[in-house]
Amino acid sequence: MSHDILKALGLGESQSGTYLGQGEWSKTTDAGTLQPQNPATGEVIASVHASSAADYETIVKRAQEAFKVWRTTPAPRRGEAVRLCGEALRKHKDALGSLVALEMGKIKPEGDGEVQEMIDIADFAVGQSRMLHGYTMHSERPGHRMYEQYQPLGLVGIISAFNFPVAVWAWNAMLAAACGDISIWKPSPRTPLSAIATMKICNEALKDAGFPDIFFLFNDAGTELSQAFVDDKRIPLISFTGSTKVGRMVGERVAHRMGRSLLELGGNNAIILDETADLKLAIPGIVFGAVGTAGQRCTTTRRLFVHESIFDNVLDTLVGAYKQVEGKIGDPTQATTLMGPLNSPEAVKAYLAAIEKAKAAGGTVRTGGAALTDRKGNFVLPTIITGVKNSDDVVQTETFAPILYVMPFKTLDDAIEMQNDVPQGLSSAIFTNNLRAAEQFLSAAGSDCGIANVNIGTSGAEIGGAFGGEKETGGGRESGSDAWKVYMRRQTNTINYSDALPLAQGIKFTV
Ligand code: UN1
Repeated sequence: MSHDILKALGLGESQSGTYLGQGEWSKTTDAGTLQPQNPATGEVIASVHASSAADYETIVKRAQEAFKVWRTTPAPRRGEAVRLCGEALRKHKDALGSLVALEMGKIKPEGDGEVQEMIDIADFAVGQSRMLHGYTMHSERPGHRMYEQYQPLGLVGIISAFNFPVAVWAWNAMLAAACGDISIWKPSPRTPLSAIATMKICNEALKDAGFPDIFFLFNDAGTELSQAFVDDKRIPLISFTGSTKVGRMVGERVAHRMGRSLLELGGNNAIILDETADLKLAIPGIVFGAVGTAGQRCTTTRRLFVHESIFDNVLDTLVGAYKQVEGKIGDPTQATTLMGPLNSPEAVKAYLAAIEKAKAAGGTVRTGGAALTDRKGNFVLPTIITGVKNSDDVVQTETFAPILYVMPFKTLDDAIEMQNDVPQGLSSAIFTNNLRAAEQFLSAAGSDCGIANVNIGTSGAEIGGAFGGEKETGGGRESGSDAWKVYMRRQTNTINYSDALPLAQGIKFTV
């Protein structure tokens, strides 16, 4: 089965993980191998040859050369290249969605959904390629014109995580391409095949239409090349998606060399249910948010604050819904599955450790709370825990697994305060039919997150909005709105069309 999925995308069981540009995949075989496993069985899917330091140098040199051509290619023409990538992804959506499901472990509809996000951001970037607007300003000096323009930035480094092995690359790379940049991708060592397949699809589409290389790829067997990448002064922007721990390191190192970083780090997302919440929306919103992708989205719902008057009812209904999900845990590539495995055995350990920690803090497991040891793979039960406090260490920490901490509240002020009282600030939501409650939640004194929703859950954001969060989430914004600006350098231009040279601020300086 896994063989068929690979074959459909032109991948072999031993695969180069380095796209050097000019249609060339590296022949390096002595820089280590990555062995991505099927998280549902633990079996190795294929071997991927990692990149050497020489490969990396070739990539950066070729990317620099490519940038010289790409930066002067008219932006709408660059949009045409992105459009072709989007078209190619449309054709391969089913196969690539299946590979994402196989390698990452998310269910097939979510794998397909991830490819859909790539297609959507490609469409978005095509439009954006005709809208790289800057302002014009009125000069304080007569006979002068002032405006600003956005110029291509250069090489963009993209380091992506296993949980969204392809979409996050596309958010960055499609916009970067429209902006005139060349991107170099270092995917997660757990999901190199999805990255390789994506590169093949996009780069073949570009080559067939006679476009130069705009997307490069390398894979690192250790961390040496990745560190060199982060420290590389030739790469003005590093976009990093992953843990807060690694992101902090990346941010510090890039800042040290005065580079730009775009950080998309951990979340600890909460939903608030007030006494007027419509449970027919709230319950599925919570279940999808907490259990979807087996709790491995940065936007996963990890905390639930329920008004004390509806607490018992909500808890019972949720436990019932979780029991239904339990019957549909299995192979993520099968159509009936609702929840796949965790991506790695280490994630199962972290899940079990968090549950133990929660119990030690006085928590009670209401449903779930165990790994499924009756089968191969990294399967766990979706878990609900009550009796913990928002301030407990375990609740303050993002555990990348389907564990939901449910806590009661008396007043909306308390709920909002608890929702904000964590180190992370990515996504948040309230379910309410009370206009005042919704507006309070969205006000300056409301949610402090980058994403705040009313009557929808915390996960599953559309690409059209700027995606990202505050505090330890890193502050970066990618995808829609004006997130494109981070991929360009901004320049203010003043033009004097008069025959005098007046100085600003009325300064007189006559020699
Ligand atoms: C992530 O988990 O890194 O909003 C990204 C969502 C998805 C993206 C998640 N569109 O859940």
